[in-house]
Amino acid sequence: MIAVFISNKITAPLKFIQESFKKTRLNAKNNLISWDKKDEIGALVNEYNRMLMALQKSAEELAKSEKESAWREMAKQVAHEIKNPLTPMKLGLQHMLRIIESSQENKEEVIKKISFGLIEQIDNLSNIASAFSDFAKMPQAEYEEINIGELIKNTIVLFKQSEHVKIENNSDVLLPSIIGDKNQIIRILNNLFRNAIQSMEDIDNGVISLETKTINEFLVVSITDNGKGIPAALQEKIFVPYFTTKSSGTGLGLAIVKNMMLGMQGNIRFESLENKGTTFHLYFKTA
Ligand SMILES: Nc1ncnc2c1ncn2[C@@H]1O[C@H](COP(=O)(O)OP(=O)(O)O)[C@@H](O)[C@H]1O
Ligand SMILES: [Mg+2]
Repeated sequence: MIAVFISNKITAPLKFIQESFKKTRLNAKNNLISWDKKDEIGALVNEYNRMLMALQKSAEELAKSEKESAWREMAKQVAHEIKNPLTPMKLGLQHMLRIIESSQENKEEVIKKISFGLIEQIDNLSNIASAFSDFAKMPQAEYEEINIGELIKNTIVLFKQSEHVKIENNSDVLLPSIIGDKNQIIRILNNLFRNAIQSMEDIDNGVISLETKTINEFLVVSITDNGKGIPAALQEKIFVPYFTTKSSGTGLGLAIVKNMMLGMQGNIRFESLENKGTTFHLYFKTA
């Protein structure tokens, strides 16, 4: 009896500590254990409490650094999205200057067309900037019925001025409306045209051709270039964020494009042959 009593007396506090240890969570706030007596168990409890506080501190630091790196990611993404429309805008303005200086007949008509494209790109920029500063996140998508033929034409007008590159718009005259976010579609086209032009930097007879086709409930917009192509070994990586083969690339373009296409209930695929060229197929859900 006495032996049982004594052993219970010794094990009870250990049990208590064991229970406390069991409740310790790495991802939640933990309570310190209080133990009045200055015995061996008291020493153990002190050690435990010390460890708990250190744990708390490193958990807080980890959370903070995770937040900071999330911010860095976001900043990179915003920087990419802001840089993205600048290329077609610059090309469009250069075209406009040339037209103004020329003796062309229908100046007004052409300038008007280019201005439309420019205004769309500027709206896009200001959307990104204000959404970022208002909510510290990328703009929320607004899905609606879109006349994609217009968006294609406006974007092509701006990119047409790239030197060494011809752009052929072979899309059907009558296209079905699709479901999407207008700003996102402009960004998607910008990204694909920019990649295509960059892939043709080393050739003089660069051609980008755009075709459309309806397959079941999708309108497929295909953009083909005759640039350097994507080596088979790299093909599975191109949608991975930060994968880039360019010294000044971010590797974010296609990752963002894929995300946006999936968000619109669509999809993106591609075919590519090294030194022959690449085709990206955009699947848009028809309205
Ligand atoms: N049209 C294309 N022709 C050849 N390679 C391409 C094409 N589009 C994309 N790529 C490849 O995919 C990679 C990722 O593209 P992207 O995500 O837009 O990032 P970035 O353009 O910043 O490199 C590019 O670095 C390039 O190697
Ligand atoms: Mg790119």
